[in-house]
Amino acid sequence: MLLEVKNLTVNYDTAMLLNDVSLEMDTGELLSLVGPNGAGKTTLLRAITGLVRWDRETKQGTKAGNIGLQGKIFFAGEDMSNLAAYEIARRGLILCPERRRPFRELTVLENLKAGSYMYPGQFASSIEFVYHLFPRLKERANQISGTMSGGEQQMLAIGRALMSKPKLLCIDEPSTGLAPLVKKDLFAKIKEINEEGITLLLVEQDVALSFALSTRGYILSHGKIVAEGNSQDLLKDETVRRAYLGL
Ligand SMILES: Nc1ncnc2c1ncn2[C@@H]1O[C@H](COP(=O)(O)OP(=O)(O)O)[C@@H](O)[C@H]1O
Ligand SMILES: [Mg+2]
Repeated sequence: MLLEVKNLTVNYDTAMLLNDVSLEMDTGELLSLVGPNGAGKTTLLRAITGLVRWDRETKQGTKAGNIGLQGKIFFAGEDMSNLAAYEIARRGLILCPERRRPFRELTVLENLKAGSYMYPGQFASSIEFVYHLFPRLKERANQISGTMSGGEQQMLAIGRALMSKPKLLCIDEPSTGLAPLVKKDLFAKIKEINEEGITLLLVEQDVALSFALSTRGYILSHGKIVAEGNSQDLLKDETVRRAYLGL
């Protein structure tokens, strides 16, 4: 097993953001995590990558600082509970955050360089992989990234995450705000990344598209896992469709 989340509970003050969440992933999988807005999906990705604990440590003693975090996260058999976010990233557990966030004032190439800061010696091979996957980024290498289209910026955000050599890449809502054709293209790339051997945890609003790519899925609602299993079975389940997927 590559990732094992065991009974994870997160609260910010009195708000229970995650409630006893458990989740498992094997190496090579493309797993979908879906659920309504505010369900806790981003919080789960941030907890897995050490950022909730970073919040807790940096905001302790401030008004926002009353953060509770219980449960265990194992990655490649190693307990992540006491590792800092950068140490978790160094082990290959990488987050591509929501609302695509390249450094807008930097060029495409500068963004990709920033992504490779942990492995400067492997810059050449990493960028070759990213350019092979996204030829558009190669064409636009010297463009200021904030001037590119939404779809191109999302590709850059994923490209930058790939520069840090992920073993498991968590992608948070990559298709939000993209036109249908751009979205379709992006999902094809996501599939390709997985076929290149990178394990993916995909958080998406577009359940149908996301479940079409993944073999397994988890549904999160109000901070709890309410269903999990084979993606096609979940899509066929009437209760799941009506209650959680709005289909
Ligand atoms: N830093 C924070 N402090 C307090 N509440 C938060 C914080 N971040 C998120 N929340 C709340 O936690 C809930 C889950 O948020 P989030 O994980 O972003 O959900 P999702 O990604 O599924 O839309 C929401 O109600 C949100 O308002
Ligand atoms: Mg979110």
